[in-house]
Amino acid sequence: MIGRLNHIAIAVPDLDRAIAQYRDTLGAKVNPPQDEPDHGVTVVFIDLPNTKIELLYPLGDNSPIAGFLERNPAGGIHHMCYEVDDILAARDRLTAAGARVLGDGTPKTGAHGNPVLFLHPKDFNGCLIELEQVPAAS
Ligand code: CO
Repeated sequence: MIGRLNHIAIAVPDLDRAIAQYRDTLGAKVNPPQDEPDHGVTVVFIDLPNTKIELLYPLGDNSPIAGFLERNPAGGIHHMCYEVDDILAARDRLTAAGARVLGDGTPKTGAHGNPVLFLHPKDFNGCLIELEQVPAAS
């Protein structure tokens, strides 16, 4: 059911430093920061040949990653995102198997403008998983 690894998200305590590190030290293609007020984060996508890295930095007062950075002050891997071609079918299959979807189960619009859902890390080996519905490649 799941398809490609769309991205790995890393929560960072210093966004400018992380951008400079990926751009200058690691030599990657770093895209401009995007504020995502609905998600409480500023996001920076980094294009790798086979996937993307998503740097996450808190935005606003109730950022969902503020607590994560308190527990992980140096930053850390926050989630990974797998592509699916039908997010509602994926949700129904996973909830029927006992997995918990975060929130009310309704997909939100993610940073790429596609529908996304998050799955409870306790149901997936301690790993927060994002599912993103990506239109089939043409
Ligand atoms: Co993500």
